Amino acid sequence: MNKQIIISPSILSADFANLERDIKLVEDNGADWIHVDVMDGHFVPNITIGIPVVKALKRFAKKPLDVHLMIENPEKYIEDFAIAGADIITFHYEAVKPENIEKFCNKIRKLGCKVGISIKPKTNQKDIIPYLSFVDMVLVMTVEPGFGGQEFMHDCALKIPEIVHNSKNGLIIQVDGGINNITSKICTSLGATSLVAGSYIYNSSDVKLAIESLRA
Ligand code: DX5
Ligand code: ZN
Repeated sequence: MNKQIIISPSILSADFANLERDIKLVEDNGADWIHVDVMDGHFVPNITIGIPVVKALKRFAKKPLDVHLMIENPEKYIEDFAIAGADIITFHYEAVKPENIEKFCNKIRKLGCKVGISIKPKTNQKDIIPYLSFVDMVLVMTVEPGFGGQEFMHDCALKIPEIVHNSKNGLIIQVDGGINNITSKICTSLGATSLVAGSYIYNSSDVKLAIESLRA
């Protein structure tokens, strides 16, 4: 049992008419964080939830809100997400001009949040190496962002060791997309320390067992 692995169930696969119930379900069964997928219909083809919903979730969520911004122009909205109650804010490397990344990370920190930087499947891990010292977490997407329930892309997980090799101790390496009890082992053996899982957890008949199986 690996207790250090941070499990962050994605509510994209929860019942949106019962978010309070479905967040409590994972919180009571071993979740460490709650992963909130924000999509704008521009950066990704899908539209999900935004600032007012994060604010509502914050009223009852006991675990930190791990907010994954799949949006263009994240700089424009960051303050609102922080005020709404995001605890960890992950933006996409592809959505911010390289010259603005350091300043942007500092701004997120000043707002009291942990900072994550994410890369899509086609982005090379080498591109984010210069920014690792500005962030608390790297999110390696193991599917094309936009939808839950897609198949794990093994090649993407192979980016992890180079990121680990170039990072300071304590940098969280999170993976997101197609994570189940088998792909989780591939990722943790390569150095991932946080797992996002949506459909695997929420479609399971025993949520506690599903979360334990990711950590095992
Ligand atoms: C995809 C999202 C994921 C999604 C994962 O763009 O970022 O967080 O919910 O879903 P599963 O675990 O079903 O692949
Ligand atoms: Zn996500």
